[in-house]
Amino acid sequence: PGTGKLFVGGNWKMNCSKKQAEEVIGFLKSGKLSDNAEIVVSPPAPYLEYVKARLPANVGIAAQNCYKEEKGAFTGEISPAMIKDVGAEWVILGHSERRAIFHEDDALIGQKVKHALSAGLKVIACIGETLQEREANKTEEVVFRQMKAIGDNISDWDKVVVAYEPVWAIGTGKTATPEQAQEVHVKLRAFIKSNFQKDVRIIYGGSVTGKNAKELASQRDVDGFLVGGASLKQEFVDIINARQ
Ligand code: G3P
Repeated sequence: PGTGKLFVGGNWKMNCSKKQAEEVIGFLKSGKLSDNAEIVVSPPAPYLEYVKARLPANVGIAAQNCYKEEKGAFTGEISPAMIKDVGAEWVILGHSERRAIFHEDDALIGQKVKHALSAGLKVIACIGETLQEREANKTEEVVFRQMKAIGDNISDWDKVVVAYEPVWAIGTGKTATPEQAQEVHVKLRAFIKSNFQKDVRIIYGGSVTGKNAKELASQRDVDGFLVGGASLKQEFVDIINARQ
């Protein structure tokens, strides 16, 4: 930690068109990408295959969600098997937007993590407190609860990256300070060690930009980033290169 390979995920959320995808792929191809980074981009599901076919081979692809079953009568859902079938190897689960807007709870997220891993996908599992919870001094309680629900369902920790995304920092331009991120990451790492006897990569998400990435990346327990808005812009390359 602090010096290892930086894991950098780009979560495009519900933003994409073929034209926009070409733009992002364009700067990923023309920019010099650090060898000291593992890069994964996450376009909306209809574009997974399109993006995969056009990206440099060293950039991985993640779906933004999946269901907890392989197939069947679940209109509107997609399964890990389908995600794998179109060439993606990762899935983001537990994002705060899924939790808040689509009412996904810890139990469902746990089931999804379990099924995605058993189907052979790697998982970027997201957790994080709201502003209200932080102000009520409940950050630890909340992230530990969310982490426990996920950790209880992890069969292979090497296939998981945990993304700490404080909800108050997502899409707000209000980034956690490097110290705030480090503080939660170190506590999470200790929690995972004592509850599961495992070490896992813990990345930070929430208004990461080309400007603040270097300082965040210098923190001992920040193993990378999950980037929203800035992952669609040229500055994503600077974020990838934040730890050379
Ligand atoms: O998953 C990434 C994310 O929620 C952060 O979004 O736009 O604040 O970088 P953003």
